[in-house]
Amino acid sequence: MSITTQGHINHPVAIITGGSRGIGRCIAESLAAEHYQVIISYQNGTPNAEAAVARIREAAGKAIAVSADIADEAAVTMLFDTAEKAFGGVDVVVHAAAVLTAKPLTELTITEIDSMITTNLRGSLLVNRQAAKKIRPGGSLINLSSAVTNNHAAGYSVYTATKAGLEAVTKVLARELGNQGITVNAIAPGPTETEMFKSDLENSPNGEQMRQAIIGMTPLGRIGKPDDIADVVLALAAKMRWVTGQVIHVSGGIAI
Ligand SMILES: NC(=O)c1ccc[n+]([C@@H]2O[C@H](COP(=O)([O-])OP(=O)(O)OC[C@H]3O[C@@H](n4cnc5c(N)ncnc54)[C@H](OP(=O)(O)O)[C@@H]3O)[C@@H](O)[C@H]2O)c1
Repeated sequence: MSITTQGHINHPVAIITGGSRGIGRCIAESLAAEHYQVIISYQNGTPNAEAAVARIREAAGKAIAVSADIADEAAVTMLFDTAEKAFGGVDVVVHAAAVLTAKPLTELTITEIDSMITTNLRGSLLVNRQAAKKIRPGGSLINLSSAVTNNHAAGYSVYTATKAGLEAVTKVLARELGNQGITVNAIAPGPTETEMFKSDLENSPNGEQMRQAIIGMTPLGRIGKPDDIADVVLALAAKMRWVTGQVIHVSGGIAI
């Protein structure tokens, strides 16, 4: 927050990709509750995005929704331009948009492989590239990775490869942006209750057994909640200003 010469308060501006549902939506609502002006970016889920915006506005927060396929360069540029036009700049980017198809590598189709690479890797590079150009000095870039980069769970080869790539980009950008006081970190969530996690379990032949096995492997004995991730985003964006280039596992300890 800063105060203008006319005495107006300038609240920081945050773009959240994948902000229409799940972890991204919870992050958007948490940032808005802390007076960030938020841009909820999504692909197809317009009703979800509009509901998220309405909820924030009902609580006197500021939010807009922008549909932008993160794998489309022109759409990503438009997203950042829209944020600047609406709120005057960009201070925080939380990149949560991603897709997952979990299957052994031999069973994944080329279409499924290409879809994860295009959205999760190409899309991450495009979002990170615009973030690196547009985040104002002193801001934060926070990428959502996954605990699978540490526990190498079977069935997640391509998804893990894309998230490992995102972690690498995070570390390089921490060096490239540090001289502007911009911190760049990744959060690696463990299994967290969202649509992505639900459909991952539903696509498994024994989903309920898998859920119990995951809980059993987690020292803190439960599946994560989106709030568990949002709490760490808030801390990174506002308080933890001497932490950069890190992958912070927020996973109940599943990937120690
Ligand atoms: N949930 C977990 O257990 C878990 C664990 C580890 C890591 N993560 C990571 O945490 C992040 C959030 O996961 P989640 O579970 O909240 O996911 P989710 O419920 O499936 O939501 C995904 C979000 O990404 C958006 N999205 C997907 N493809 C997009 C594209 N091409 N362009 C723009 N937006 C796109 C979706 O928008 P539309 O609905 O409009 O398509 C949606 O808002 C992801 O990066 C995921 O990999 C999740």
